[in-house]
Amino acid sequence: MKVIHAKDYNDMSRKAANIISAQVILKPNSVLGLATGTTPIGAYHQLIDWFKKGDIDFSQVSTYNLDEYRGLSHDDPQSYHHFMRENFFDHININVANTHVPDGSNPNAEEACSEYDKIVAAAGYPDLQLLGIGNNGHIGFNEPDDHFSKGTHCVNLTESTIQANSRLFDRIEDVPRQAYTMGVQTIMYARMILVIASGAAKAQAVHDMCAGPVTPSCPASILQLHTNCVVVADEEALALL
Ligand code: F6R
Repeated sequence: MKVIHAKDYNDMSRKAANIISAQVILKPNSVLGLATGTTPIGAYHQLIDWFKKGDIDFSQVSTYNLDEYRGLSHDDPQSYHHFMRENFFDHININVANTHVPDGSNPNAEEACSEYDKIVAAAGYPDLQLLGIGNNGHIGFNEPDDHFSKGTHCVNLTESTIQANSRLFDRIEDVPRQAYTMGVQTIMYARMILVIASGAAKAQAVHDMCAGPVTPSCPASILQLHTNCVVVADEEALALL
């Protein structure tokens, strides 16, 4: 695990965008694993800026998002489908047909998850997987558990995650209670993993991910076993390391 120190959120975002940009320049048809949440927005905006300046071309890139709330239509403003279009895809020259997010609108969890596993496997798994980290060490929506998950599956979100995500909803009752998420095993198949973290609320999780025991009670800790994992975090998030 390589840890790169960033000063603050903006510095973290630029460093992360640089790494993603290098990946796409070196391999124009890269398969990117993408994340939602607050943390990657700055990196997406930086990539959009470089695209507009003609420095990066997404025309051959394909993307696979980690997760989606169960029960939300693709057009729901709270859905991760919508988030990705609004914060990234609508502003770059990616072919929308090459962008993929688990189908939260399919109420049949088994079908939605196994279909997603098939398309991620058919793509050969991501060249680079971007990850945020939850305050409790979750990656994707793989919450602390007594085992590491494998493929895409339906999860019940923990109270702490519902609480953390409620900032993006009008009322906490509106936060979906379930999500479809890529499993930890699938995440580990990516050839490179880029974890980004910002702010004091992430300090314990970043410490446990990098320096704690490898345990499913901190799902991100398994990344210590990945041969090509880079963490870009700011001073506050690195405070306990
Ligand atoms: C989102 C995802 C989550 C977030 C995590 C951190 O696709 O997979 O694991 O990365 O909850 O969220 P933020 O960035 O909002 O702190």
